[in-house]
Amino acid sequence: MDIQIDVTNIKIETPRLLLRSWQESDLNDLFAYASVDGVGEMAGWKHHESITETKNILHSFISDKNVFALELKATKKVIGSLGLHYSWANNEKDFAALRIKELGYVLSKAYWGQGLMPEAVNAVIDYCFNALCLDALTVGHFVGNAQSQRVIEKSGFMYVTQGTYHAKGLNKTFAENKYILFRR
Ligand SMILES: CC(C)(COP(=O)(O)OP(=O)(O)OC[C@H]1O[C@@H](n2cnc3c(N)ncnc32)[C@H](O)[C@@H]1OP(=O)(O)O)[C@@H](O)C(=O)NCCC(=O)NCCS
Repeated sequence: MDIQIDVTNIKIETPRLLLRSWQESDLNDLFAYASVDGVGEMAGWKHHESITETKNILHSFISDKNVFALELKATKKVIGSLGLHYSWANNEKDFAALRIKELGYVLSKAYWGQGLMPEAVNAVIDYCFNALCLDALTVGHFVGNAQSQRVIEKSGFMYVTQGTYHAKGLNKTFAENKYILFRR
């Protein structure tokens, strides 16, 4: 079963990050990492080519209310996003009765390899299971995206199946490995 998410007034702190809702003032930070070639492409979207494009995405984050901005506490700069989206599991007979969302995340290339996304994912898992009372979370990575696969494995998800994902903006279909984590 799908659940309506609203992170507008939610703040989650981890040792290095503040997870909070997006603000108009995050425009330049979002453009800085989303315009780098090879970041969004690993998650199914083309890197931004103009600040106008970024502004539209920022506005959708603000109005959809289901994506956290990841603010690095040390600099107050936003360096990534973590969203709670509609999950494929909502359409599966075995999972349809459960309250489930799908995680999606991207981190600025300059900050890869420091364990920041696992830190954010763990905090959001706690929030989803303890505050939102979700029954399960799903997540996926394109086959070959070893970095995201490691985040998923380190966060305790269980492999379920392989499917496909058509990325409209890239005009490309990817094989995708799908995972689930049930409330502990
Ligand atoms: C996937 C992603 C969020 C991982 O975030 P992160 O905070 O760097 O995660 P980690 O620090 O735990 O690193 C994960 C793995 O990346 C690899 N890695 C580390 N530093 C790296 C670097 N500079 N470049 C490439 N890969 C690196 C390592 O294999 C690491 O696994 P390990 O901990 O077993 O050594 C980040 O790489 C990213 O934003 N990628 C592009 C978007 C994307 O793939 N989103 C997910 C869509 S499903």
